Amino acid sequence: MQSSTPTAPPAWKAGERHLLTITDVAFGGDGVGRLGEFVVFVPFVDTGEEVEVELTEVKKSYGRARLVRVLRASAQRVEPPCRYFGGCGGCQYQHLAYERQLEVKRKQVADLFERIGGIDPSLVAPVTPCPQPYGYRNRIMIRSQWNKPEQKLNIGFVRGDCGLVEDLDECQIAEPALNEQIRHVRAHPPPKGGIKVVLRIAPEGWEVPRDSFFQNNFFLLPKLVEIVRGRLLDSGARYLVDVYCGVGFFAIELATLVERYAGVELDAMAIKAARLNATNRGAANGEFLSGTAEALLPEMLKAFSAPATSVIIDPPRKGCAPSLIETLRTVRPAQVIYVSCHPATMARDLNALTAEDVFKLAQVIPLDMFPQTQHVECIADLRCGNGGLDVPSGASEPCPGSGAGGVLASVPLAGRLDNRDGCRDDGSGGPLPHYSGGEARMRLGSPPTAEQT
Ligand SMILES: C[S@@+](CC[C@H](N)C(=O)[O-])C[C@H]1O[C@@H](n2cnc3c(N)ncnc32)[C@H](O)[C@@H]1O
Repeated sequence: MQSSTPTAPPAWKAGERHLLTITDVAFGGDGVGRLGEFVVFVPFVDTGEEVEVELTEVKKSYGRARLVRVLRASAQRVEPPCRYFGGCGGCQYQHLAYERQLEVKRKQVADLFERIGGIDPSLVAPVTPCPQPYGYRNRIMIRSQWNKPEQKLNIGFVRGDCGLVEDLDECQIAEPALNEQIRHVRAHPPPKGGIKVVLRIAPEGWEVPRDSFFQNNFFLLPKLVEIVRGRLLDSGARYLVDVYCGVGFFAIELATLVERYAGVELDAMAIKAARLNATNRGAANGEFLSGTAEALLPEMLKAFSAPATSVIIDPPRKGCAPSLIETLRTVRPAQVIYVSCHPATMARDLNALTAEDVFKLAQVIPLDMFPQTQHVECIADLRCGNGGLDVPSGASEPCPGSGAGGVLASVPLAGRLDNRDGCRDDGSGGPLPHYSGGEARMRLGSPPTAEQT
């Protein structure tokens, strides 16, 4: 083992073993240690731990390492329940007690928001826990790959370290019904290698087309809605615009709180489903538009009085288009509720929204929609203090263009009508078994489909 004396430029080499003290757990899940000034990232550790690592990658300004052994363990270190943890790329935090995971995520969000968004860390609330930190995921994607050395087909998730498929027959964070589906796929492997299968469970009472987005943790969903509902009520808004609305989830859940609502979504199939969901759930006081949010939002907002309007934005991981941020800054609705599973792009967009104090950030509430993993959902409540561009005439009229022949019908639609960029941390984009929400949340959709890749 080499000594850890600082050297510049880095004299460290891949394959060397070193002792490190972990000073932080960075966003993404890797612990941070230092060899002198040289930063080394190592997964599956906790702040304060002393560990032996082996360098796997040495770059100019940082390196990566694998954990060899823990010399002084954190009091919050626990035995990971999953036998695939560390190999399979899905989870980063099973080695940490759940309470500790929440602390780690809160610090990461606060640090990131301060660094990228210039946001006061005291505005970031503690992370709302998931009542079920295992067995919660209602959607997973599994792949297959021919394992040449062992002459067998691997079926499972892509490993975090090498891009190969880890062969597995269960996933501890997936709902039990999905594990049944994994076993079904394993028992009936495709004739040739190279499949990509997305397994899902139907949400009760919601129509969701096979390629459309739906939130992937049913256990924390009521809390997500409760928090957004509370923020909307607090604003006193009478109108709601649900941007990136998917199958209409937020607008329909909150429809009774407002006089009128409108939703916009790129995925045309999701919009069809949103209209059906609104009918089925008696949310008749609004309409849904199909197209890009950036193109349609300016016209949509004209239909509502800005000082009485709340806008929910729940964009894909890449965040909002700059033109959409500009629309909000120009029109200045009373409230923007930003929901995101990607804190980095969210921080960038919050920074733009709050520039020159056009909007003021009231609070950021992180929710642990993805326990054991690096991901975290956040809700930000922004208020506009300066009053907006009021549109008194017809301000409470139905949003034009929501049906055939409305004003917005002439707005050109840009982009592909698909959901490849939806917020899917399973990295999917492949086909989903079709289902429509039924009597039972646990009711499975059609048998999983397999796609040759
Ligand atoms: C994170 S999902 C949110 C869905 C919905 N709010 C929900 O809770 O179910 C993001 C959605 O944005 C849609 N989307 C992506 N780019 C878009 C765009 N430019 N304009 C409108 N919708 C878009 C995706 O199809 C996806 O349904």
